[in-house]
Amino acid sequence: MKHAKGFTVWFTGLSGAGKSTLATLLKDSLRQLGLPVVLLDGDEVRKRLTKELGFTREDREENIRRIAYVATLLTNVGGVVIVAAISPYAHARADARREIGNFVEVFVKCPLHVCIERDPKGLYAKAQRKEISCFTGISDPYEEPQNPEILVETNTEQPQDSLQKILRQLEELELLKPFTEV
Ligand code: ADX
Repeated sequence: MKHAKGFTVWFTGLSGAGKSTLATLLKDSLRQLGLPVVLLDGDEVRKRLTKELGFTREDREENIRRIAYVATLLTNVGGVVIVAAISPYAHARADARREIGNFVEVFVKCPLHVCIERDPKGLYAKAQRKEISCFTGISDPYEEPQNPEILVETNTEQPQDSLQKILRQLEELELLKPFTEV
């Protein structure tokens, strides 16, 4: 039987690096190709699925575990899941990769000083004034992916360049043929 092959594209990177922007562009592109796409964005997920969680290591790991669980369910029935979450711990990302299986990691790389300059939500300024604790990059760690399938560098690339890079790589991984013999 022919059926769609599900997969998860997992965006990781600092706050303000551009994960949500790229995840949304990718969602729109893949929808246009007719793929059944769902976006799980950290900010949105934290309002709904993981409302009670904060930003300690334990809470972040629980946040990622729940996102990975939903992503697994959807991926297994042929969905295309896009996740955008800081997901700062390599080991939590590795667990997500193992559980989901068809997993494409996109490292949205951007120097910390550029994220601090951008500060779209004013959170870096608050973290620097110590008004918020455990802030990734300021008072909390970010473990960079060592072997991501895709690397985009948002301080030197335009969003459209990064998007094209991601689409090309997904094609190379043979994930964009909507109906493949499985
Ligand atoms: S994760 O670490 O658990 O993956 P997630 O991506 O869901 O994080 O949420 C990060 C978003 O929460 C940030 O973009 C920011 O808007 C907000 N936020 C609030 N407090 C913090 C904090 N202490 N560290 C990082 N992000 C925070």
